Amino acid sequence: MNDTTADPRIIDGKAFAAGLRAEIAARVEALKSRHGIEPGLAVVLAGEHPASQVYVRNKARRTREAGMQSFEHRLPAAVTQDDLLALVHQLNRDPRVNGILVQLPLPEQIGADAVIATIDPAKDVDGFHTTNAGLLAVGGEGMVPCTPLGCLMLLKDRLGDLAGARALVLGRSNIVGKPMAQLLIRESCTVTVAHSRTRDLAAECRRADILVAAVGRPRMVPGDWIRPGATVIDVGINRVDAGNGKTKLAGDVDFESAFPVAGGITPVPGGVGPMTIACLLHNTMLAACRRHGVEVPE
Ligand code: GUN
Repeated sequence: MNDTTADPRIIDGKAFAAGLRAEIAARVEALKSRHGIEPGLAVVLAGEHPASQVYVRNKARRTREAGMQSFEHRLPAAVTQDDLLALVHQLNRDPRVNGILVQLPLPEQIGADAVIATIDPAKDVDGFHTTNAGLLAVGGEGMVPCTPLGCLMLLKDRLGDLAGARALVLGRSNIVGKPMAQLLIRESCTVTVAHSRTRDLAAECRRADILVAAVGRPRMVPGDWIRPGATVIDVGINRVDAGNGKTKLAGDVDFESAFPVAGGITPVPGGVGPMTIACLLHNTMLAACRRHGVEVPE
């Protein structure tokens, strides 16, 4: 593959996330020295889902690197819903814990909705609780889901004011598509949400100044669906056959054909992925500030 990493059309989420983590670490340091506040994040993993184990390990490591307390809770795959809910209640009460993240997917005997509904909305750093989804929809001080928040940061860094832009969000999940659409509405974009039942998806995509792809289907969006000069944010992280008996990661956008057409595009890996953890740290720091009634340090 050509070395495109230095091309200005590449939106380098990895570098942006590293800068964001450094800013958060400086703010956490200020919270400690000025107010004696040490933000804490609890991450709960039930079962042994291989990808989840990697994600949880990375979240804990980044939390500690940012100077925050990390509390890891590993539960057996056979854990009951009652036991998991009891742990969430305990974390809700624990004053050292400002953020709670229960890693998804959960074992089949556990209802994710029941778990999410039990998390104190003020500690819901994933932004999945209906209270936070509602606050995002109507405006107010909630918690914004990490992946769409990261996408928005990259878009604003690249484009500045987004007002009036035509944005197409491909995917309507509660975790990415719906909150992404809400955030873009808040930025005064004209937002279309497309999905598997959308008629003439290619034509919808071609109208978009901003295209956010979050469907989980490898290379579904070809370059000729992209408006020349459009900004493309690829949320997909799909494992595909690399042809040599190995696997590699591919986005929802066909990078090879999209790159020459787009004005800006996030690579996979190294685009949106690293932003998600950085935004999780941001939300945890924000939750700690709100809990103690202090301004976020400059
Ligand atoms: N599993 C994959 N991504 C996420 C995420 O952002 N939050 C949680 N809780 N689980 C996930």
